[in-house]
Amino acid sequence: MSNVTLHGARIVVRAGALADAAAAVRDATPGCRAIVISDSNVAPLHAAPIADALGAELLTFLPGEASKSRAQWAALTDDLLARRLGRDTVVVAVGGGVCGDLAGFVAATYLRGVPVVHVPTSLVAMIDAAIGGKTGVDTRHGKNLVGAFHQPALVLIDPLALHTLPAAHRRAGMAEAIKHGVIADESYFHWLAAHGSALLAPTLGADLAQRLVLGSVAVKVGVVAGDEREGGRRKILNFGHTIGHAIEHLSGYAILHGEAVAIGMVAEARLGELAEVTLPGLADDIRDLCAALGLPVAIDAAFGTDAIIDATRGDKKARGGAAEYALPMRLGEMNDGGGRYALAMDESLVRAAIDASR
Ligand code: GLY
Repeated sequence: MSNVTLHGARIVVRAGALADAAAAVRDATPGCRAIVISDSNVAPLHAAPIADALGAELLTFLPGEASKSRAQWAALTDDLLARRLGRDTVVVAVGGGVCGDLAGFVAATYLRGVPVVHVPTSLVAMIDAAIGGKTGVDTRHGKNLVGAFHQPALVLIDPLALHTLPAAHRRAGMAEAIKHGVIADESYFHWLAAHGSALLAPTLGADLAQRLVLGSVAVKVGVVAGDEREGGRRKILNFGHTIGHAIEHLSGYAILHGEAVAIGMVAEARLGELAEVTLPGLADDIRDLCAALGLPVAIDAAFGTDAIIDATRGDKKARGGAAEYALPMRLGEMNDGGGRYALAMDESLVRAAIDASR
């Protein structure tokens, strides 16, 4: 699978795809006038050449999670309005997860919605954020709390863009790849373990890069295809994200999303083991692979157990004030929770899992 359609969004994975991104945007959105959005790190590397080839304006914002805000959404939206862009606009988001979520939310809401094309350049964005139509921004209450589902017209993934990705972000992206192995593809998990250090190399070859991205994209597409709006099985993609988002938020976003997910997966697998949902030993297997790839796996003493539990209650997945957890049964298989896929857990178990993950 290197070309698939998901809820109307064409997803193309091809080494070298960035070189003809402009033609791909024109094909996907004929007659539209493009506006390119990127952060100021990615702009000179990847976005400016695409904007030039499209004859489009390039709007930039400061890199980092702090830009995934209502203020930045308003600034970009006002910029589009000042240019009197109409409904024939296509927003082209070139960058990582912050860029895709932010620019996607601008596109979802501008004039009640214009098309968006995602050109993800980070591993997290290629294998997770750009796929599935979630867009949004953070608030002081937590991550991704304001947003919309808005399927892109096209997701154009060039795995060779990983060459320009800083090492910390490459590692952070591996956490989402590991998550995909845990939730739905045992053999992919073992493949990641076997090729770990080669996958992190800055000179990662086209074959390995393509396999890394395709393995994850296949899992993500397979899950989202049956549950676009997260009414059920899509919740399994949130494994590691209840405690992960809480830690990311409490760190003031100093901890990268993927790093927080690595810590969250270990803690939530321990929770599953304590609840006798998860096969004993899985938390250690996840911890060992994450640690081997240089990801953090332990909850820092700076984040108190009460603060973490309180932050999980503000998560968008919480129901009736109680956080919900999607838990694995074993490698490659998640607990379906009787069709609910994510369940509220006894607070004493959550506390014990957090304390055992320090
Ligand atoms: N990142 C989780 C999802 O797309 O559902």
